[in-house]
Amino acid sequence: MMINILTLFPEMFEPVLGGSILGRARKKGILDINLINIRDFSLDKHKKADDYPFGGGAGMVLLAEPVFRAMESIKAQGKKALFMSPRGQVLNHQKIKELANEEELILLCGHYEGVDERILDYWNMEEVSIGDYVLTGGELPTMVLIDAVARLIPDVLAGEESAEEESIYSGLLEYPQYTKPREYRGLEVPEVLFNGNHKLIALWKFEQSLILTKEKRPDLFEKYIKSEKEFTKEEQKIVQRIVKNGE
Ligand code: ADE
Repeated sequence: MMINILTLFPEMFEPVLGGSILGRARKKGILDINLINIRDFSLDKHKKADDYPFGGGAGMVLLAEPVFRAMESIKAQGKKALFMSPRGQVLNHQKIKELANEEELILLCGHYEGVDERILDYWNMEEVSIGDYVLTGGELPTMVLIDAVARLIPDVLAGEESAEEESIYSGLLEYPQYTKPREYRGLEVPEVLFNGNHKLIALWKFEQSLILTKEKRPDLFEKYIKSEKEFTKEEQKIVQRIVKNGE
């Protein structure tokens, strides 16, 4: 997948997109990141990329011209373009899955107060938010989006890292995990994980996921219960018990 990033702060990206799983995907050629400095497309002799808003108001607004020219440089017409903004639809797994199917994305990072609205209109940009709070710019949201999208692209995750196994996709939160030592400062790992009975362990994990989801995300729990999933008899018993009294 090719991801074009239009930003005034390209230096913010390399530390994040160059390391770990994303860095590996780029080296393997599965993920291609094209960083574009909007300022390079300014025709102003001081490389100005923003100006005061018409009609007054606080802060500066990203100019149409350098963004249009940057978009033209990557032949953006007709390509999927997103503008990271708290005004947009809040990202979720469904949206990330849709984006992971694209061959090419263009991500525009705003800064200061915003961008000239004509950019969004002309280039048919979809506004996307990473949550109902305001950040100083679109760079961090862009990195969040890229990370979430990239891990769904085939072969980005290695065998031991599974994309779809995360239990949140099944509608439940992940069960608790433990590793060595079996006892640490008197804190014990649940006994069931050592009995070698894989069916029992799977049921325990399911039960823990249900308990945690009910406690931490009652909204997801309600949705899960109403989703008419097909349960085995044993699972059904666990579900009924937890719906009734939580434990
Ligand atoms: N830019 C500033 N805040 C943002 C948010 N919450 N999501 C996406 N882009 C933003």
